[in-house]
Amino acid sequence: MELGLGGAVAVVTGASRGIGLAVTAALVAEGAHVVAGARVPGPDLEALVRAGKAHALAVDLGTADGPGRLAELALAEFGRIDVLVNNVGAVTPRPNGFLLVTDDEWTRSVTLNLLSAVRATRAVLPTMVTAGRGSIVTVASVNAVLPDPGVIDYSAAKAALVNFTKSVSKEFGSRGIRANTINPGPVATDLWLGAGGVAETLAATTGANPDAVAGEAAAHAVTGRFTRPAEVANLVAFLASDRVAGNITGATFAIDGGYAAETH
Ligand SMILES: NC(=O)c1ccc[n+]([C@@H]2O[C@H](COP(=O)([O-])OP(=O)(O)OC[C@H]3O[C@@H](n4cnc5c(N)ncnc54)[C@H](OP(=O)(O)O)[C@@H]3O)[C@@H](O)[C@H]2O)c1
Repeated sequence: MELGLGGAVAVVTGASRGIGLAVTAALVAEGAHVVAGARVPGPDLEALVRAGKAHALAVDLGTADGPGRLAELALAEFGRIDVLVNNVGAVTPRPNGFLLVTDDEWTRSVTLNLLSAVRATRAVLPTMVTAGRGSIVTVASVNAVLPDPGVIDYSAAKAALVNFTKSVSKEFGSRGIRANTINPGPVATDLWLGAGGVAETLAATTGANPDAVAGEAAAHAVTGRFTRPAEVANLVAFLASDRVAGNITGATFAIDGGYAAETH
């Protein structure tokens, strides 16, 4: 399927590893120019930069001006932004329960998982409105619809992110801008499987083996496995494309191997 993304300018947040890196690679493969942000761009992203396929900015997207600086780089280099992928996010398991989650921890979580997307979206919308077109794809989480006390702040922030994206789709739809959300279940990235990731953290609190914790999560999916980052990236690329997804907006897509029991 030809997505028609050749020459498109895409901004991707949280792009050095995991889903964001896979999204960057998928969009580059479709012929898009990607302006990618992470605190430490890292070797895989830098290889795409060296190949002339992407620009990378070392930026903390949890700061007030971080998302705007990324959008400014794209505008300085290309003069427009066609696609925004709000991907950056992080989760810290809360095995000790809600009452021990502090204000600082709530603030950090809401800032990176929700406010970073609010700020990036605010930064790209003016150029999209001028162009009369644009696609915003936001990576939320299955926890947006599966509230979980073990990740209580993350679940609430991701639910708000879906709600926010829907509002944006309503306000800007008549001006040619589409905004959609993806809710992945467990994905095989550092967030779940890396050092200090969800599997390791939960294992440390229960005395279990991290592989067993991950295996249990995989078993919750009807397919019995984690989603691959490239599978999320393919869905992002599909939604980014006006050619194939031109009348899809305000929608939320699960990619979780059937992990969430309800239909959403
Ligand atoms: N993996 C899953 O199971 C899963 C499931 C559902 C939803 N999601 C969502 O998918 C998105 C990507 O997750 P992932 O699994 O790919 O995570 P990951 O493997 O931990 O990668 C996170 C990416 O974001 C960057 N990042 C983190 N904090 C940042 C900050 N303050 N400023 C700039 N960049 C930052 C990281 O680079 P640096 O560390 O260099 O900054 C990295 O490139 C997140 O929104 C996550 O909530 C993931």
